[in-house]
Amino acid sequence: MSNWITEKIDAALLDAKNRLAAATAETEVEQLKISILGRNGLFPALSKEMKNLPSEERRAAGVAFNNGRQRLQEMIESALSLLRSSTSVDQTKTIDLTLPGRRPKVGRKHPVTQVRDDAIAIFRRMGFVVAKGPEIETVHHNFDALNTPEDHPSRDRGDTFYFADGRLLRTQTSPVQIRIMENQQPPIRIVAPGRCYRRDTPDATHSMNFHQIEGLYINKNVSLADLKSVLQAFARELMNVDIRLRPHFFPFTEPSVEYDFSCVMCRGKGCPVCKHSGWLEIAGAGMVDPNVLQNVGYDPEIWSGYAFGIGIERLAMIRYRINDIRLLYENDVRFLEQF
Ligand code: PHE
Repeated sequence: MSNWITEKIDAALLDAKNRLAAATAETEVEQLKISILGRNGLFPALSKEMKNLPSEERRAAGVAFNNGRQRLQEMIESALSLLRSSTSVDQTKTIDLTLPGRRPKVGRKHPVTQVRDDAIAIFRRMGFVVAKGPEIETVHHNFDALNTPEDHPSRDRGDTFYFADGRLLRTQTSPVQIRIMENQQPPIRIVAPGRCYRRDTPDATHSMNFHQIEGLYINKNVSLADLKSVLQAFARELMNVDIRLRPHFFPFTEPSVEYDFSCVMCRGKGCPVCKHSGWLEIAGAGMVDPNVLQNVGYDPEIWSGYAFGIGIERLAMIRYRINDIRLLYENDVRFLEQF
């Protein structure tokens, strides 16, 4: 049965519910409690009014009054405990506006990519153009045209990955030399960065998959001194080191050299990193063999050139002092974040 008292109680409950939901501080809840349940509040006032009701209505009003008061007390208690718990969390979360903001994590280039890009940039400034070739190669481009003898050990199935159709995963970037020379007339000045594959057992300095950057320059009257000056300029720019050339052998260059950087750790004095030699091996290079020029249809009487093949992992390991090549392939973020 409804009368003006139960209506007032319902209205008060609804109002309290809205105000409690909006309350952001315990004091607001305390004030609400006083205004409804306190000595001069709504409920004591209603309690007095109830005495004036006709006796048949008084009973129902009394039930509504008691239920309403209990409901209110519960609402107030839960609002208070909610505010208390969130206040204590708030205290630990207090915003300190003087703290620096949190930076979003930014990705970065892999060390091999960084060194590759730096090397490309240096050679481009010296007039080299970037060239590309496939990673799946023919025996012709990877060995035959590069003047590699039939019985050369690098052709062995134990050293090179072959496909059933006779093609292979290139063991070096040198076949890009052949592809460029077969399709262009001199003068030529290119660098060709890319992946190479060899059937090596992985250890601290060997990987089945590694990167090289190949260089090729073809013109009239090219000399070994030209090669040396380009390699010296590269070493200076990349790591501010000296170089030396040592006699070596490659089927596709004559004469052939190996190219060393002075040790970045001891600056040539001798230390464990350079095995006390003062030098670190970086690349193979040499003057393009006349047989190779002939194989691509160039007249060796007119044209000459030099070529080099630099190990990119080797450069990255020296530059960043990495002592195990396998770290470069594990993609451990804790490792990669350091570069
Ligand atoms: N292709 C040779 C290697 O992988 C390096 C090289 C390149 C040597 C060009 C001479 C000229 O070892």
